[in-house]
Amino acid sequence: MPERPYVLLSCAVSLDGCLDDTRPARLILSNEQDLDLVDAERASADAILVGATTIRRDDPRLLVRDAARRRERARAGRPASPAKVTVTRSGELDSGARFFAADGTAKLVYCYGAPARSLADRLDGRAEVVEADGAGGLGWVLEDLARRGVRRLMVEGGSEVLTALLADALADELRLAIAPVLVGDPAAPRFRGVRTRTSLLSVEDVGGMAVLRYRLGTEAR
Ligand SMILES: NC(=O)c1ccc[n+]([C@@H]2O[C@H](COP(=O)([O-])OP(=O)(O)OC[C@H]3O[C@@H](n4cnc5c(N)ncnc54)[C@H](OP(=O)(O)O)[C@@H]3O)[C@@H](O)[C@H]2O)c1
Repeated sequence: MPERPYVLLSCAVSLDGCLDDTRPARLILSNEQDLDLVDAERASADAILVGATTIRRDDPRLLVRDAARRRERARAGRPASPAKVTVTRSGELDSGARFFAADGTAKLVYCYGAPARSLADRLDGRAEVVEADGAGGLGWVLEDLARRGVRRLMVEGGSEVLTALLADALADELRLAIAPVLVGDPAAPRFRGVRTRTSLLSVEDVGGMAVLRYRLGTEAR
């Protein structure tokens, strides 16, 4: 069993590196073609991780959308969509969020101490709440996922979770979809406070978006 899963970071950014803006409505950066390629990545993952703020702000479903891909997974004896995973310190997650919908996917929430226990009560079986080792950070979460059989993990944001995995050299690959849009908002979420080296694997024009794949180094720089 590996120490941690293979970790693919996947996100869409504006030309000026923003993952979102600060307006109330969600900023959609991807086009349909890119969303379909992201769907294919989802279909090859065992689990998808997002930070709790992404659940609160974007309310994502995190399901494989394409019926053929869902059938293909079922034929291979896998659930139609990967397990959903999130992390929270506050435990402030709404049980009505789409993450927790009764959609047949396994759901794991990593939390610590008393907030973990009150969240478990509120979720009432909608997800397994794992009381995590606070000192271990996301490394502990990845090790626990590996113990549960997760070999390939896709991380779909947000900025804090992506940055933490980069900073701790806990990711293997980055898929960066660059939208032809400038956000121009200095307060918008983006990668911050991390320096790391990457090597370019591929560049693709996806309906006007530049989709870049990078191999990530094993050490943050
Ligand atoms: N463009 C894209 O591809 C894309 C994708 C996803 C999200 N986004 C955007 O990114 C923004 C959200 O990013 P964000 O940086 O604010 O938040 P985030 O990374 O989604 O979530 C951060 C939260 O995750 C929890 N967390 C982080 N590290 C943890 C750890 N080690 N242990 C336990 N819990 C931990 C904490 O939750 P608690 O606060 O509950 O303690 C923290 O506040 C949104 O604007 C969203 O739209 C963009």
